[in-house]
Amino acid sequence: MADAPQAKYRKDYQPPSHTITQISLTFDLHDTQTIVTAVSQVKQVGKSHTLTLDGEGLELVSVKVDGTSWSEFKQSEGQLEISNLPAEFELTIDTKINPEDNTALEGLYKSGGAFCTQCEAEGFRRITYYLDRPDVLAVFTTKVIADKSNFPFLLSNGNRVESGDLENGRHWVEWHDPHPKPAYLFALVAGDFDVLRDKYVTRSGRNVELEIFVDKGNLDRANHAMVSLINSMKWDEERFDLEYDLDIYMIVAVDFFNMGAMENKGLNVFNSKYVLANTQTATDADYLGIEAVIGHEYFHNWTGNRVTCRDWFQLSLKEGLTVFRDQEFSSDLGSRSVNRINNVRIIRGPQFAEDASPMSHPIRPEKVIEMNNFYTLTVYEKGSEVIRMMHTLLGEDGFQKGMKLYFERHDGTAATCEDFVAAMEDASGVDLKQFRLWYSQSGTPTVSVTTSYDDAAKTYTMTVVQKTEPTLDQEEKQALHIPFNVELYTQAGDVIELQCNGEPVSNVLDVKQSSQSFVFENVSSRPIPSMLREFSAPVVLEYDYSDEELIFLMSQARNDFARWDAGQMLLAKYIKANVEKVQAGGDVSVSSEVVDAFRGVLLSETLEPAFIAEMLALPSHNEVSGWYKQVDVDAIAHVLKSIKVQLANELHDELTAVYHSLNQQEYSIEHASIGKRALRNIALSYLAFTEQGNGLVLSQYDSANNMTDTIAAMNAANSAQLECRERLMSDYSDKWTHDGLVMDKWFALQGTNPAKDALDKVKSTMSHAAFSLKNPNRTRSLVGAFFNMNPVQFHSVTGEGYQFAGEILRELNSSNPQVASRLIDPLLKFRKYDPKRQALIKAELEKLKAMDNLAKDLFEKVTKALAS
Ligand code: TRP
Ligand code: ZN
Repeated sequence: MADAPQAKYRKDYQPPSHTITQISLTFDLHDTQTIVTAVSQVKQVGKSHTLTLDGEGLELVSVKVDGTSWSEFKQSEGQLEISNLPAEFELTIDTKINPEDNTALEGLYKSGGAFCTQCEAEGFRRITYYLDRPDVLAVFTTKVIADKSNFPFLLSNGNRVESGDLENGRHWVEWHDPHPKPAYLFALVAGDFDVLRDKYVTRSGRNVELEIFVDKGNLDRANHAMVSLINSMKWDEERFDLEYDLDIYMIVAVDFFNMGAMENKGLNVFNSKYVLANTQTATDADYLGIEAVIGHEYFHNWTGNRVTCRDWFQLSLKEGLTVFRDQEFSSDLGSRSVNRINNVRIIRGPQFAEDASPMSHPIRPEKVIEMNNFYTLTVYEKGSEVIRMMHTLLGEDGFQKGMKLYFERHDGTAATCEDFVAAMEDASGVDLKQFRLWYSQSGTPTVSVTTSYDDAAKTYTMTVVQKTEPTLDQEEKQALHIPFNVELYTQAGDVIELQCNGEPVSNVLDVKQSSQSFVFENVSSRPIPSMLREFSAPVVLEYDYSDEELIFLMSQARNDFARWDAGQMLLAKYIKANVEKVQAGGDVSVSSEVVDAFRGVLLSETLEPAFIAEMLALPSHNEVSGWYKQVDVDAIAHVLKSIKVQLANELHDELTAVYHSLNQQEYSIEHASIGKRALRNIALSYLAFTEQGNGLVLSQYDSANNMTDTIAAMNAANSAQLECRERLMSDYSDKWTHDGLVMDKWFALQGTNPAKDALDKVKSTMSHAAFSLKNPNRTRSLVGAFFNMNPVQFHSVTGEGYQFAGEILRELNSSNPQVASRLIDPLLKFRKYDPKRQALIKAELEKLKAMDNLAKDLFEKVTKALAS
């Protein structure tokens, strides 16, 4: 292979040698030969008269300084070094690029018929030579020139200032963004679209034009995105006192996109998956996903754009905070407990797994080879948990004061995570010294609790021991400041007021030492503790609960999340015990008390249907795998399925009654209505494993008037391998082949097919008319689902799943390394499997490593994994 890619370290940060205060860009758009002219006003700030610009895959046409041709430059891999420069000058650079050949979808590329850009994190350097780093903030003016009939809409950041027609059927539009910004927030879109327009008047009276651009013919699928945008703007004013700051807000939906969406100033570019929805094409989960992502990108306008990141190691400054904000938005608009449960599932499942993998890194990484590899669950989701812990420690008022101070200090600048914590600390007076370790320490802490009750003294002692195992990136671990939320109950279910040293104390204990005891006074009898309430810290809780205590908490705990969590702990106990039994040749069984506890939940008249649905959902195979050092794929799958079958049979009558009672005539996306469908469909997912399964599923599919019920039926048919599966699959494919986004749900079902011949089917599905490995959504739906959500078939000991993964990764390594790098994740954890599987996976990793054109993205992950 060529020279090994070099890592960058957080500790090596240096301010830039020059600033660029203004840049004026002209794009002469052509499919294979686009000319980009960049005129920058540059000022030297350091000592050097040499300016080193970033640039990749560019054809340099010319360099001028103050209008005259400049020859003192050197081009090297990824850089342009211009020397002997004056202290202040105008730099003009012409480059040529080829958008049509850009399959990596970074920089300027074509999505369908439209031109679009993706610049975060380091994509702007594929457009022109520039100081492509987030701490260089410039005012952008952008002129776009293109053929008028094919590209009637020419868009960029900020406000539209001028436009005109040219010869040869071409036209131009000029845009000006008054807010200085780093290059990663630049965007350009040119194409022909349908536009949904609306207006928003901000609290202070600013009129904002809202425009959502979708492919022609999709206008009837843009409404929910618009409603979500308006709700986001309103919510940010009400909860965070933050208003929008331009006269126009545009969103463009594109089919080819590596991630979810991008917060470019005034011109968000979205994966069409997070814009397009109507009742016939989108599920309830899709609707909620759109709301969350529209919110997320909108909230970035303040947390990301107005205050941006000094360097990419600080990514969690904007992403952790913005995820926290979008989670709060969804919780304020919908069900707080259901949102919390789903966020916690992500942390406990994939995030904990990532933190235990060779890619383990702190939310603020120390070392990076390819920045695109660090848009991770750790930076985003654990990052949000870290913000949430500060919110817990400071309270809403203290937190909002901290936000105010943060904006007072850093608006219009590029800041660090430390700046954020300092603002929170200074505004609230809460000491966050030890808390800062959450930014630099990787891995998941385990919090082990033991309790004792002293009948004579009427005291209850809780001893909390925290430990974080070493991770590949970091040997030594220190004790963290863990907000540990507890509540104590009497046997009768009453809440015991917490008292220590004669004083009432808060439910949130400050756990700061590796071992720490809390003595609660005036406790009249041995209580039942509810711990880590609301998942107050991203840790693993260990406590030796009896079944009776967990069943008690499932029905008596005073908050929904604690009840759900007790149910999960009870299931976890039985899953673990049964895995051992199966490994010893025994059968799977669940006690009748446990079955009754879930029966009670199912029949509850006080719990919300949406919440009951969550209580009845078993942990995923992936989450269960995370509990083990060595994963027994088949035993876990067998246990999960057997528990499902046992619950289905024992709760058959109740599930059937609930299923029929929740039939709704009209479809609406009101939260109550979504909740009823969720419960009805989880009932169906159980009933699919009983004798009436095939009939029920078939009739639901035939009578469904919305995509949620259609997909629930197909899902049930797929996981229970019902006779009707083939009929449903072919009916759906006949109906939707023309629509890739709708077909993604079908591709995902092929990917997760539990049948023995799943891999053959996946391979043949790759020649389906709607499939293309060039489209990241298609690839993730089919191939990604097979790698990540079909553990038994993917990890088949024949090694065929791994070989297939190797083939796909080698192909994507050339066409789209960013997508390849996300798909490789399950292979990185090869140490978790038995020696035979380990050897098979390792062989595939070695093969990748030996490639002579291995992209940085895969290089970084493969070398880490092989070093583990
Ligand atoms: N900033 C985007 C977000 O979280 C993430 C993103 C979109 C991204 N596209 C990307 C990150 C491409 C890296 C590469 O909202
Ligand atoms: Zn984001």
